[in-house]
Amino acid sequence: MTYTEEMLKSMQLVAEKRAANAALEPTRMTADEKTNLLATYHPDYRQDKFKTITFGANKGEKAPIELVELLEANARIKAGDVDLEKPFYDVDVLIIGGGGAGSAAAIMADEAGAKVMIATKLRIGDANTMMAEGGIQAADKPNDSPAIHYLDVFGGGHFAAKPELVRKLVYDAPECIKWLSDLGVEFDKAPDGTMITTHGGGTSRKRMHAAKDYSGAEIMRTLRDEVLSRQIPVVDYTAAVELIKDESGAVAGAVLMNMETRELRVARAKTVIMATGGAGRLHYQGFPTSNHYGATADGLILGYRAGAKLFAEDSLQYHPTGAAFPEQIFGALVTEKVRSLGAKLVNVNGDVFQHPLETRDVCASGIIREVDDRKNGIKINDTTSGVWLDTPMIEYKNGEGTIEKRIPAMLRMFGKYGIDIRKEPILVYPTLHYQNGGLEISENGMSTVENLYVAGEAVGGIHGRNRLMGNSLLDIIVFGRNAGVNAAAKAKEVKLGKLTLDHIAAFDKERAEAGVVSDKVSPMLLPTYTHGNPVFEDKKAF
Ligand code: FUM
Repeated sequence: MTYTEEMLKSMQLVAEKRAANAALEPTRMTADEKTNLLATYHPDYRQDKFKTITFGANKGEKAPIELVELLEANARIKAGDVDLEKPFYDVDVLIIGGGGAGSAAAIMADEAGAKVMIATKLRIGDANTMMAEGGIQAADKPNDSPAIHYLDVFGGGHFAAKPELVRKLVYDAPECIKWLSDLGVEFDKAPDGTMITTHGGGTSRKRMHAAKDYSGAEIMRTLRDEVLSRQIPVVDYTAAVELIKDESGAVAGAVLMNMETRELRVARAKTVIMATGGAGRLHYQGFPTSNHYGATADGLILGYRAGAKLFAEDSLQYHPTGAAFPEQIFGALVTEKVRSLGAKLVNVNGDVFQHPLETRDVCASGIIREVDDRKNGIKINDTTSGVWLDTPMIEYKNGEGTIEKRIPAMLRMFGKYGIDIRKEPILVYPTLHYQNGGLEISENGMSTVENLYVAGEAVGGIHGRNRLMGNSLLDIIVFGRNAGVNAAAKAKEVKLGKLTLDHIAAFDKERAEAGVVSDKVSPMLLPTYTHGNPVFEDKKAF
């Protein structure tokens, strides 16, 4: 890889100061310092990048401009485009999305005896779950407890989470680790068979269980195997483009679209679980993303148009360490585990400028300040600068072989571009990683619309306004399973009425009354990078 002169000079300083930096114990910021840092540098506080929602269940609240434009856009279909009297699929539980949450939900609903189907716009496993690296939290060690885990989650999320959801998250966590382990997830273990656990940012105990640095891929592999071996139907390359309701206003299925032929199919369902994942591909504020190609907030759009309420829709997570160099992997995730293993964040002068394991929002803001305000970043090109993540420090502290053993995916990702992270530090900058907000649910997983359940990253309220590392892999399992169990149980009592798409016309009317004119259609389904701006999809694309 070709480094610039400036990079090489700075890299030399990093190497010279490594021993001293390794011995340094950077102080943690005070609560006031964190509050000021966030208010000044966190992208969520840039009011010019947000817009007020004009109508619907969250009227008057703020959300990123790109999201509001999709929430207020035109539906992809009209009521007359499909024959609701002739459903092509007829199931108890329809799951929209084939990532970790959807798969966990499908397994539990199937276990409960429901007729289940997964529809996914790409393939099962094409999801942020697959791309999660660092691990999954659970308080299952003698020095830990769900109550301590609760305090970490609730405080780390700025006390903005729904307490009953946090309670469920942390108390169900140990059982979920056992469930995954029994299904076949190969967690890292010590020679005596106990789980190896590490810290993440903002954790007061070592409770991160991992499968090296491909924890999400290992979990997804196992869930997908289980879904397939149970012979749960999975309809690939088939996106949900609209929810269907019945006369009572309860959700009763979805209109599905074949992504290749654009054919529309009606899926009737007694209950629906929305598990469509995140929104990184909306590239809020022009940030790169660590997310998979399909992360376009579809579930939020479909749910909102059907009347479901959003929670904390203005809160996003920027992972502190996205790859900033080389440009082929710009924005890709550099797992927090790199910092858990001892790598520190270092500026252009080779100096450590903050504790490496502050919570993510604080850590990302500190990097933005170091680069944009203090001008202590390392210039990468005319528009991008980053800071060093001193990866060789890991082996300096823990001995040779640690990187290959504990973070082989990182070694491989940078190795492809000729960068040996055992010998050279890497350049990082925050990347759009996670939507903290989403569709509001109650403890049983149901949204504010009857029979519409939500699981995974499409949910808002579990993490408050900032999520800790490893609690997303946990929430997809806890709330995926929960939604599966409850949607299957509910399906037993549901008597479906006549299907309708009347909510589309009602939504259009509300938009007109609000004076909003939109030339966009939603859900976006896939981003386009052909027009220079990924947010504006060609209306004729589908
Ligand atoms: O840094 C990471 O490995 C990401 C983990 C997460 O978002 O939970």
